[in-house]
Amino acid sequence: MPEHTFANASAPGRTLTDLEGPGLKQWQQRSHLLDTDDLTLEELNTLLEAARICSSLISKQEPPLSLLNYSTVANLFYENSTRTRSSFELAARRLGATVLNLDIASSSVAKGETIADTAKTLLAMGVNAIVQRHSASGSAAQVAEIIGNSLKIINAGDGWHAHPTQALLDYFTISQISPKIKGLKIAIIGDITHSRVARSNIRLLSKLGAVIDVAGPPTLLPSELSAMGVKVHDRLEPAIEGADFVMTLRLQLERQQDGLIPSLSEYRKLYRLDSTKMALAAPQAYVMHPGPINRDLEISHELANDQKRSLVSTQVANGVAVRMAILYLLLSGKGKN
Ligand code: CP
Repeated sequence: MPEHTFANASAPGRTLTDLEGPGLKQWQQRSHLLDTDDLTLEELNTLLEAARICSSLISKQEPPLSLLNYSTVANLFYENSTRTRSSFELAARRLGATVLNLDIASSSVAKGETIADTAKTLLAMGVNAIVQRHSASGSAAQVAEIIGNSLKIINAGDGWHAHPTQALLDYFTISQISPKIKGLKIAIIGDITHSRVARSNIRLLSKLGAVIDVAGPPTLLPSELSAMGVKVHDRLEPAIEGADFVMTLRLQLERQQDGLIPSLSEYRKLYRLDSTKMALAAPQAYVMHPGPINRDLEISHELANDQKRSLVSTQVANGVAVRMAILYLLLSGKGKN
């Protein structure tokens, strides 16, 4: 693990069942988690507290809890994933839930079954939450609308639109170092157009008062950015200057259309984050990346591995704690609405 000092450890001895207050109630009454924009400040504070407790349980290697013994969580991933899928499975198991990993390639999806019919089938089997990733923007909301309140849809990434649990684990990671988000300068750089991570982070962190600068090639900067209240740059340097956190994104090679970038070597030259460019940031600045990384394309190998500056492994570790917190908060109030 990197050598960072985390400021906001949970009060010793606190457990998930000690959580109370309006934030907990709002989570328990929430139908789905589709993006970060409709989360209240109470819900965010409760999530941080729950994630701190889960992080502490994980670091102490406590045995699995039995808090969600009667819940079943289905992982429904129509797109590839390592971090999100594995961490949801680990998180659910740590809470005592049953986990169903649907293998899309060998499921009835291959015979043409729709996402909504697959969700209804899982509901009929008693599944309580579906963690869904799909390449179509809006697909999670679409299934949530059809399925209603009968089970929780957790958006694990829909097209270019949203990846709320990644943004929440990024928020948790930032808050461990800088508990006050208001006034932080956060640079988000790279392939913004294709990034659901960037969109969910911008919606969340700007609501919390962070100053967000975005940079990337003009062809990978979507027009909606100016309406999102961020500063937009086509060069990295002004975005990084004085930043407290620099979040670099994967160049989504599988989603590129012809001509969006002149060449990979040109992209590397202008937009690869390395220690020289990081020297423009605040002296104690950290670098983040949601993964998976194209090493030496959007971030230098050396910076990605820099134990003092890189939060990449911390983000991955926090993914389990935050997803554990999310599952607990969404499912622990089953039947208490
Ligand atoms: N950051 C992220 O979503 O990674 P995976 O695609 O591996 O889940």
